[in-house]
Amino acid sequence: MVKRIGVLSGGGDCPGINAVIHAVVKRAILHYGLEVIGILDGFEGLVEGKWRDLHYNDVSGIMPLGGTILGASNRANPFHYPRYDEQGKVYFQDMSAKVVENYRRLNLDALIAIGGDGTFSVAEKLLAQGLQIVGVPKTIDNDLSSTDMTFGFDSAVKIVTEAIDALHTTAQSHHRVMVIEVMGRYAGWIALYGGIAGGGDVILIPEIPFHLDKVAEFILRRRQAGKRFSIVVVAEGAHPVGQEMVVQKIVAESHDQIRLGGIGYVVAQGIEERTGLEARTVILGHLQRGGSPTAFDRILATRFGAKAVDLVVEGKFGYFPALRGNELVSTSITEAVHSLKTVPLHSPLLDIARSLGTYFGD
Ligand code: F6P
Repeated sequence: MVKRIGVLSGGGDCPGINAVIHAVVKRAILHYGLEVIGILDGFEGLVEGKWRDLHYNDVSGIMPLGGTILGASNRANPFHYPRYDEQGKVYFQDMSAKVVENYRRLNLDALIAIGGDGTFSVAEKLLAQGLQIVGVPKTIDNDLSSTDMTFGFDSAVKIVTEAIDALHTTAQSHHRVMVIEVMGRYAGWIALYGGIAGGGDVILIPEIPFHLDKVAEFILRRRQAGKRFSIVVVAEGAHPVGQEMVVQKIVAESHDQIRLGGIGYVVAQGIEERTGLEARTVILGHLQRGGSPTAFDRILATRFGAKAVDLVVEGKFGYFPALRGNELVSTSITEAVHSLKTVPLHSPLLDIARSLGTYFGD
């Protein structure tokens, strides 16, 4: 019988995590009479022994807050845990036994792990070591398979849309090409949704390698048709045909060590050189993960959080709540971590955008 559960947020933060924590704590306490422990800084808390009790009053008023009241870490893979020698050089150790030990020491009957593919792959290995884990899918990238949508995505798309709206006025005044680079890692969801909602003229996504020459021709044709400015939305993982993605830096301690970024500058320079038009780049960066979650994300996060507690009580460990259409289902963590959900080349939304004149650079 489940009496005491832990909750943690792993990986990068995103708007809506606090709404999950809010739902988990209230559902657990009010509906099931459980005790809840908040693990601090993702799995780091279970390695280093950092946690706190979470009572009903601790989660009052946290729904609109961005980030996570528990802290997060995307460098805390217990199976490949970073340590630093006297010279400050990083080396790695398997600290999973410590996680199991602390889980037992806390008398946890289950753990709810809010995270994306990195957190879920750690969860998968800890399940094999006997921990009882239920996941909650989170990422602005919307690239987690088995769920139609993750919370955080809608909030990121809103920020991208507002940024494009703002860029329109300055692009218009100066008759410029504005290139806006957005996040999303290896998937183009944020660029596609944000680009369509903001009325981007060109949208470049990782799933469709682009030709800079053709993008430049498209922009020149717009100019000839009397459009004196253009907005190009480029996903950080987008890349020209036959070329690699642009890597900004390597983070050795992280689950996915690659940090993408910089393709926006390549695209703007390429357009300037080919068209003679002035181009500027805006890299939206972590603004896309900041601020208050949208109403849609708050509702989705609340549904996920409440359902995760139900799954714990039902003993459905190794599962997480997922959205299919508008229904919540439970689906296996293992299935989700082994494939990435990218934009299908014949996604209906992509086809609609093409039919409205949006160019994808192919
Ligand atoms: O996965 C979410 C995300 O924001 C990606 O879109 C982005 O590539 C990455 O995380 C940035 O990671 P970090 O916060 O470590 O710079």
